[in-house]
Amino acid sequence: MAKVTLIGSGKAASALGKALRAAGHEIIEVWSRHPNNAEALAGILKARPVQDLRSLDPVADVFLIAVKDDAIEAVAAQMQAAGRIVAHCSGIKSALLLKSASENYGVFYPFVSMTKDADTDFSSALLMIEGINAATAEALFALAGSISHHVKRVEEAQRQSLHLAAVFAHNFTNHMYTVAAQLLAEKSLSFDALKPLIAAHHAALQRSEPVSLQTGPAIRHDHSTIEVHLQLLHGHEDLKKLYELLTGSIQQWHKDKQ
Ligand SMILES: NC(=O)c1ccc[n+]([C@@H]2O[C@H](COP(=O)([O-])OP(=O)(O)OC[C@H]3O[C@@H](n4cnc5c(N)ncnc54)[C@H](OP(=O)(O)O)[C@@H]3O)[C@@H](O)[C@H]2O)c1
Repeated sequence: MAKVTLIGSGKAASALGKALRAAGHEIIEVWSRHPNNAEALAGILKARPVQDLRSLDPVADVFLIAVKDDAIEAVAAQMQAAGRIVAHCSGIKSALLLKSASENYGVFYPFVSMTKDADTDFSSALLMIEGINAATAEALFALAGSISHHVKRVEEAQRQSLHLAAVFAHNFTNHMYTVAAQLLAEKSLSFDALKPLIAAHHAALQRSEPVSLQTGPAIRHDHSTIEVHLQLLHGHEDLKKLYELLTGSIQQWHKDKQ
């Protein structure tokens, strides 16, 4: 079992901390730039809260950096964890950002949506590992394997492509659900009406390619229907632009079918 220190106290740090602790690892310290946040998460994980990145306890085997992507480099620059393993959890940032913190650096990227409150089920989530050397990759692989059955060593370019794809498939799709919920709410209708449609689509994706499941007025080039939709979006100029952009993208993608 490993001794793990968490740098960060947000969604990823909380979810990983709980899962790693449940798997039998010891969480040594939790760092946050806000002492209250470090104390709150450290309390849950039976760890020590720390405020100074320069005085982290070297007893930890692995330092997992789970701060926002833009802060990883600055945080790592303040750490000294020579001989220890330092990894960040970002889908997009280079492991090289951690070079100054330790000679054993890598990436520990959970391909799953993590939140602070609900316990994240990592067991079937893809966990992507990178390591600057074999020992680092092996140690991170073993740590990941203790919470997931689906661990893979990846190249940076693969990790970044998966991250980009997830932004389209998950983040942007969820934004579309948010827009749909708002449009329905404006007419006193519930988003519940869409749930069977969404569930059926998710089920169909298990057996078919997304490109073959495209339906709707854009792919049919039903111009009069599109016109009515744009009229219904009166007062939502931003959503009109989004509708037109997506309609154009679908039509361009499927242009052979015209
Ligand atoms: N959540 C996910 O589903 C998910 C999935 C895969 C990977 N990740 C990765 O996990 C990492 C953390 O994401 P998250 O979702 O946990 O974000 P989050 O919930 O917003 O938490 C961000 C953390 O970064 C800290 N932070 C923000 N700005 C900082 C700064 N300037 N200096 C130092 N610390 C700073 C915050 O500190 P305070 O508490 O002090 O505000 C907080 O601890 C990111 O690299 C992200 O790409 C997240």
